[in-house]
Amino acid sequence: MALMKGAMLYEGKAKKIFETADQGQVIQYFKDDATAFNAQKKGTIVEKGVVNNKVSEKLFRLLEAGGVPTHFVERLNDREMLTKKVTIVPIEVVVRNVVAGSLAKRLGLKEGVAIAPPLIEFYYKNDALGDPLVTEEHIRLMNLAEPATLAQIKDLALRIDKLLVPFFQERQMILVDFKLEFGRHKGRVILADEISPDTCRFWDQKTKESMDKDRFRKDLGKIEEAYQEVLKRVCG
Ligand code: TMP
Repeated sequence: MALMKGAMLYEGKAKKIFETADQGQVIQYFKDDATAFNAQKKGTIVEKGVVNNKVSEKLFRLLEAGGVPTHFVERLNDREMLTKKVTIVPIEVVVRNVVAGSLAKRLGLKEGVAIAPPLIEFYYKNDALGDPLVTEEHIRLMNLAEPATLAQIKDLALRIDKLLVPFFQERQMILVDFKLEFGRHKGRVILADEISPDTCRFWDQKTKESMDKDRFRKDLGKIEEAYQEVLKRVCG
């Protein structure tokens, strides 16, 4: 039976969410639109949606096999996947294995230095405020997540890192850092959103060149080529 795509429930910067006949499931559509710096910079990365859909599928399957619950149900086509419908916890969880990006900038740390054990940061998902860094006490103050939920999220984030780092290592890539979003589905906290070159930093093991959205953020060129290379290394 063909899956009925219903009304659009939500449109974000890089994805659209559509309802289905099943109340508990939605379709996640991946766009080619790219933004950076809280959408002050806008552009298109040709075929990005296809890459992010397929890379996310591969990584969600890997994580599920490793015991991490995710919203992934199945990939429907080049740009769409069927997922469990979740209520997103309004916290962006960043896991860092190597100093880069805002961490280097905020604290004056040298890019490229290994971080062990990995560092976890929380950002309040709020465009109007520019997704500010928050502490666990801020999260408690604003009741963004129950302490037990936050503990669960931290545990899942570290387990995800442990599963992903060797996967990318085998593909001659350094998983520098990445952003995760979690959601509630039928009372359970599960991994949601996407895991892709939009939401991760990947450096080529040999050349240390960026193979992710930093090429767009920093105008490094060869953006599409980098996304295609990630697809090739991750999905074969
Ligand atoms: P940052 O160093 O800019 O804080 O980024 C950390 C990681 O989070 C990096 O892998 C890129 C990802 N990220 C997103 O997925 N969305 C965002 O809006 C930002 C700022 C970063």
